[in-house]
Amino acid sequence: MVRPMNHDLFEDARWAISAIARGLNAIGGPAAELVLSRLAEQDLTMKDFVERRPVSIDVTRFFAQAIAETMMYDSVVAAALASLDGHLKWCQSSAYTDEILGEGFFQNYGWCQIIGPKGFFKGDDFLLGILMLGPNRHYKDHYHPAPELYWPLTGPTLWKQGQGEFELKQAGEIIWHPAHVAHATKSNARPLLAVWSWTRDTDTPAKLVEA
Ligand SMILES: [Fe+2]
Repeated sequence: MVRPMNHDLFEDARWAISAIARGLNAIGGPAAELVLSRLAEQDLTMKDFVERRPVSIDVTRFFAQAIAETMMYDSVVAAALASLDGHLKWCQSSAYTDEILGEGFFQNYGWCQIIGPKGFFKGDDFLLGILMLGPNRHYKDHYHPAPELYWPLTGPTLWKQGQGEFELKQAGEIIWHPAHVAHATKSNARPLLAVWSWTRDTDTPAKLVEA
């Protein structure tokens, strides 16, 4: 029997989700556990699968380099995410501007959803995706009602929330942003690739503090 073309993509999307789940489960802790419990509630069958029109943006020129670096940390997650290359719908938050974020920011920033309205499964008020930042970028303070997990796959990178200082985080160190708390990220000399998840209240997009 010939399988439909998108069955392979469905399996790759499921592979990426299960690789991320396995990685988060191995790390443990309340933030990872909350994401995993929300993930367990999502519909992820073939009948829920949606093949999105892929969109490539400037920052994806760093994708292969970031995947290569991720191989050093978690080769299964790296391989699973690499299998989705060319099928992802890369996005940028439309409320953001170069004026606030620095010249060239839009050539060095983007995110996509694996689960969510722009992802392969629509999700139930739950988003799971990946973020990329080019080298030496400052993704300035922003906030949103959704509680958020970040799982950087490359690094080290710098992360800050609220009135705190920037803290160095290695690849694999989970970052948790409670609802509405402003947060910022700085990449180093190499591009950042990170898994992210919004666990609820996903309808309101992020806003820059300076906007
Ligand atoms: Fe955020």
